[in-house]
Amino acid sequence: MDILGSEQHKIIHGDALEALRMLPDNSVDLIFADPPYNIGKNFNGHIEKWKTEDAYLEWCYVWLDLCIQKLKPDGSFYVMTATQFMPFFDIYLRNKIDILSRLVWYYDSSGVQAKKYYGSMYEPILFCVKDKNKYTFNTDDILVEAKTGAKRKLIDYRKAAIPDLARTP
Ligand SMILES: C[S@@+](CC[C@H](N)C(=O)[O-])C[C@H]1O[C@@H](n2cnc3c(N)ncnc32)[C@H](O)[C@@H]1O
Repeated sequence: MDILGSEQHKIIHGDALEALRMLPDNSVDLIFADPPYNIGKNFNGHIEKWKTEDAYLEWCYVWLDLCIQKLKPDGSFYVMTATQFMPFFDIYLRNKIDILSRLVWYYDSSGVQAKKYYGSMYEPILFCVKDKNKYTFNTDDILVEAKTGAKRKLIDYRKAAIPDLARTP
């Protein structure tokens, strides 16, 4: 394990479980976890493929618990995994932390295109907080103009009452 930088700004380069265990509990403002996806990628000669899907998930559940343990009470936690494993993450996490958003990072840059089924051209990301009434969210810094919605005067069905909907042409 290599520890680089200073006490104040530190990079820990090593096994995730070992590194996470070194941190004090409730001490991290923001965690962004982009783990191996168990899809057979080669990272510096190490093929990231567990013997079974259950073995991969069991490993993930250990570091997911550690992330929650190390996150500050008002901290935020973003976590990614492959589309096929995200439902397990979601179900595992929802009883332990508040999942506020289920984000999709989409792209069309995948090297190999599916020919006989639909390609997976996105990656899911969960945005979670420990306290949904107290966390940091820098709204102004991440604003993007919506392509649909208010500008096109679309109806917000979440707000409309049923009688209003009936009158809508
Ligand atoms: C999906 S990639 C993340 C890439 C990273 N976001 C980046 O932009 O470079 C997963 C990374 O996790 C690393 N990794 C695999 N097992 C690990 C472990 N037990 N502890 C720490 N890192 C690990 C892999 O080497 C790989 O770099």
